[in-house]
Amino acid sequence: MPQSLTICVCGAGTMGSGIAQVAAQNGFKTIQFDVNADMLAVSKKNIAANLEKLVQKGKMTPEQAANTTSNLSFTSNLGDCIADVVIEAIVEKLEIKTTLFQQLAALNNPTTILATNTSSIAVSSIAATIPNPSRVAGMHFFNPAPLMQLVEVIRAEQSSDETVAMLVKLAKDFKKVSVVCKDAPGFIVNRVARHYYLEALKLVDEGKATVETVDALMENAGFKMGPFRLMDLIGMDINYSVSNIVWEALGKPVRLTPSPLQKHKVDVGELGKKTGKGFYEY
Ligand SMILES: NC(=O)c1ccc[n+]([C@@H]2O[C@H](COP(=O)([O-])OP(=O)(O)OC[C@H]3O[C@@H](n4cnc5c(N)ncnc54)[C@H](O)[C@@H]3O)[C@@H](O)[C@H]2O)c1
Repeated sequence: MPQSLTICVCGAGTMGSGIAQVAAQNGFKTIQFDVNADMLAVSKKNIAANLEKLVQKGKMTPEQAANTTSNLSFTSNLGDCIADVVIEAIVEKLEIKTTLFQQLAALNNPTTILATNTSSIAVSSIAATIPNPSRVAGMHFFNPAPLMQLVEVIRAEQSSDETVAMLVKLAKDFKKVSVVCKDAPGFIVNRVARHYYLEALKLVDEGKATVETVDALMENAGFKMGPFRLMDLIGMDINYSVSNIVWEALGKPVRLTPSPLQKHKVDVGELGKKTGKGFYEY
């Protein structure tokens, strides 16, 4: 069903691409912005392939796929990012996010909702840098965004009730299930999940088990993905940033110390699926 709101998704990487697909397939005019034109091209290609698969599986009609495609536009020009709701999904770095938020606030109407898909940065610290911070909140999707049902809506110190209600409604319109969370380090899921990654990394770092063994055991124990396969899907640059941000925000507890193996993977550029190599080859 066509929707009246325009959505802008900033970032066309792993998450931005999936979020743009979700918005467009639920009837929203969707602008996808990235500073890197190559990423936009990859996103466009991936969304087309996803839609094709949905049609083949009978989960979407060819007409719905065509409508989704016509709802989407791709741009590397920041000036095109005019929308009712902006969902930011760029790199997990506070300064880069706040610079973009300031630019978006200057471009858009003062009532435009500015949401961040950050996994771990304090949403209140982003809100603090822009005018009308009551329209800022977190809207945290999970990977892959078109498939994962959960969305954490994060209430920043400055978020108004209207902003939170609007994002809860938007999540429903996206056919997602939302949970409103406090702006605490790692929110809920990423705080709990830190141990899944870090204990697995410690086992391998200490030579007590291999990557393949840990993944096989956890998958046979009922987890959809073992920790290493999951880190490859997420992207090690993102996972390492989140580990550091949560660890620092909680006062550097020993149990949450980031692993040297995470740093090594980032240093050598083995980020996972997105670079073709992580713990596994793609
Ligand atoms: N990867 C995950 O599993 C996951 C899950 C939930 C949330 N997140 C969060 O989503 C955000 C994006 O993560 P990702 O995995 O999609 O990252 P990614 O590395 O796949 O993509 C980031 C994109 O941002 C673009 N970019 C960088 N600076 C920009 C700018 N100033 N303006 C516009 N585009 C810019 C890059 O060109 C790149 O295409 C992060 O905040 C991350 O914490 C990630």
